[in-house]
Amino acid sequence: MPDFKVADLDLAPEGRKLIEWAEAHMPVLMRIRERFAREKPLEGLKVGCCLHVTKETAVLVRTLMAGGADVALCGSNPLSTNDAVAAALVEDGVRVFAWRGQSKDDYYWCIRQVLSHGPRLVHDDGADLIVTLHEERRDLLRGVISGFEETTTGVIRLKAMERDGVLAFPIIAVNEARTKRLFDNRYGTGQSVVDGLMRATNVLLAGKTVVVCGYGWCGRGIAMRARGLGAHVIVCEVDPVKALEAVMDGYQVMPLREAAKVGDIFITATGCEKVIRREHMELMKDGAILANAGHFNVEIWLPDLEELAVRKERVRPCVDAYVLPDGRKLYLLGEGRLVNLVCADGHPPDVMDMSFANQALCAEYAVKHEGELEPRVYLVPEEVDMAVARLKLEALGVRIDELTPEQKAYLESWRLGT
Ligand code: NAI
Repeated sequence: MPDFKVADLDLAPEGRKLIEWAEAHMPVLMRIRERFAREKPLEGLKVGCCLHVTKETAVLVRTLMAGGADVALCGSNPLSTNDAVAAALVEDGVRVFAWRGQSKDDYYWCIRQVLSHGPRLVHDDGADLIVTLHEERRDLLRGVISGFEETTTGVIRLKAMERDGVLAFPIIAVNEARTKRLFDNRYGTGQSVVDGLMRATNVLLAGKTVVVCGYGWCGRGIAMRARGLGAHVIVCEVDPVKALEAVMDGYQVMPLREAAKVGDIFITATGCEKVIRREHMELMKDGAILANAGHFNVEIWLPDLEELAVRKERVRPCVDAYVLPDGRKLYLLGEGRLVNLVCADGHPPDVMDMSFANQALCAEYAVKHEGELEPRVYLVPEEVDMAVARLKLEALGVRIDELTPEQKAYLESWRLGT
């Protein structure tokens, strides 16, 4: 058995069942796994992953291992680890350092354990692993072939590192693949955030006013699914184009100070800090529910909520009631962390199939092109994005048309006009 630290190894049989369920719903990644098992593109490579330890991540990890990788894994959020999955992966031979309910110190201890593995490929979600690698383990930087970033917030941080001239190895921004962002961030987050909200509270969405902060890929998905369940949706944005898009998609758009007075449920999906803060909390109705879908727990500004409340009590497993001096209660879900991962199972495997297919194929691409990439943040190669889309269509039994040579020439030509 490898070095590891998880909550309870006895949970492994339950974890194995969860992973098998995910495998049955991730046909693209399973196809890639079969090929990896034959071709061994990652043979002998040490890989470090800092990803939400879910059943879907386990399918990715098993795929990297089928390709010959030696994997160490930690969670990318203190509250998102599925302990049964973590245990099953230890039995698979993965160095897992993850359990649900970590302190900040525990969280970074786990990241450091993954770094001591000496990874040559790093798969990150939020950039904590890659940032810690740059800050604390500079001795390892030269050995890293490439990093891969799963989420919007991580890509923003890594681009900032590139801009500041401190990024030491190439990064492939998996989040930016069309087969990732358009599906995972929109449909995955859309469904799973509503799932988290319902599992945590069991409230009826029909007839409620749901305020969605941020109308990016995640916000669009959340707004769409909340509306589908009969909620009246208000969107709050800072980008005028996105705000206009929300208006034309049929939502009400207004500043958060106005929405604060009428909202029943507030969901942040911005990647920005202090989106819901004291001035908004003071205006909210008794019983308002607050949930965050953004990567870090900074969108609903907890210090303000803590300061404002005279009392706090846990009223359901994922729900804390904050009692204000006038008796109003505001309910915070999942401690302000990613509501879909803390209060539900995270994204469905069907959609993680594409995100993690990109992760696996980008790892293979980076190894094939070792030494050719610069320390920059790269987009996912078009050929990878297209390959994932084709494999997914194939798995869904959907066939599409092809351009004729004549049409191809037409689309590439400037000569033909009116
Ligand atoms: P995006 O960049 O497409 O959208 C973010 C939107 O928020 C933008 O339209 C921006 O103008 C808006 N915004 C920024 N600051 C704001 C503020 N103070 N008030 C109102 N609007 C504001 O990003 P995307 O892909 O939608 O991701 C959003 C967050 O969700 C990121 O932190 C990302 O890492 C995270 N994420 C979470 C997932 C989950 O499973 N819960 C899955 C995918 C992404």
